[in-house]
Amino acid sequence: MEKVLVTGASGQLGSELVAALREKYGVMQVISSDIKETNDDPNFLMLDILNKTRLREIVVEHKVTQVYHLAAILSASGEWDPKKTWNVNLNGLLSILNLGRDGLINKIFFPSTIAVHGPHTPKQDTPQFTDFTPSTVYGISKVTGELWCNYYHQRYGVDVRSIRYPGIISWKTKPHGGTTDYAVEIFYDAIEKGTYECFLKEDTMLPMMYIDDAINGTIQLMDADKEKLSLRTSYNLAAVSFTPKQISDLIKQKMDNFSISYKPDFRQAIADSWSQTIDDNYARKDWNWNPKYDLEDIVETMLKNLNIKLNG
Ligand code: SER
Repeated sequence: MEKVLVTGASGQLGSELVAALREKYGVMQVISSDIKETNDDPNFLMLDILNKTRLREIVVEHKVTQVYHLAAILSASGEWDPKKTWNVNLNGLLSILNLGRDGLINKIFFPSTIAVHGPHTPKQDTPQFTDFTPSTVYGISKVTGELWCNYYHQRYGVDVRSIRYPGIISWKTKPHGGTTDYAVEIFYDAIEKGTYECFLKEDTMLPMMYIDDAINGTIQLMDADKEKLSLRTSYNLAAVSFTPKQISDLIKQKMDNFSISYKPDFRQAIADSWSQTIDDNYARKDWNWNPKYDLEDIVETMLKNLNIKLNG
């Protein structure tokens, strides 16, 4: 019987991953944890990922078998405090990997990101293996994290699995502090204000994915046969790529009065250092990755669900 711990569970990805894991394993088999208290969760524990003692206590006391380690500071907010970002993102991961090394947990999931890309990464069809010299501290912490995962797998046999997520688009929980966040904000502002001021230029193409694809892919990877996994760094994963102009044009087709303006800020340089499209051949081959949502599906689903959420 699996007992799962999700760190950073209140975040954009965490909140929906917890729900999906609870469908699969049962509510009391999946502990959600985060640094901030939450009211409406029957199986929640407060946990600062830097508190190694508390982390170990939780794992031992609750006989945790798997950890989905999502707690992290993202690309844009990470730049305000590089040292803290490095500490949270890297030392948090090492504490989890050590639990695997010590035989306390059987499986670990570590989210990596397109932020491992840097100015010298090929922009089109970014291969699995290429130059990853990121320019943000978030990217540095994630590419280093990937290497530690691979090291712990090779040296100690830790079963750690990882995905390089593109920007995730969802309507239940807002993302915080990321460069791809515009692709969620645009829907809130379209519905609430009829207009959106975008912090990226209109032709900035980035890889993105709808949350349901991200969750399905994650669970698929974690369920995959060990023998099938040829990578223990992190899998490239792709779904769609688009620009602010392309997504806003589709929103306009559904909302006549919607308008967009552009006021690029420091996040433009971050976006410019990431690639535009990704080759995710390894994920397709190793564990049959196959996303379902294209950009039109995403726009339709987001507008439908956010309209209900915001307007009732
Ligand atoms: N969505 C993330 C960010 O923009 C990328 O991993 O920081």
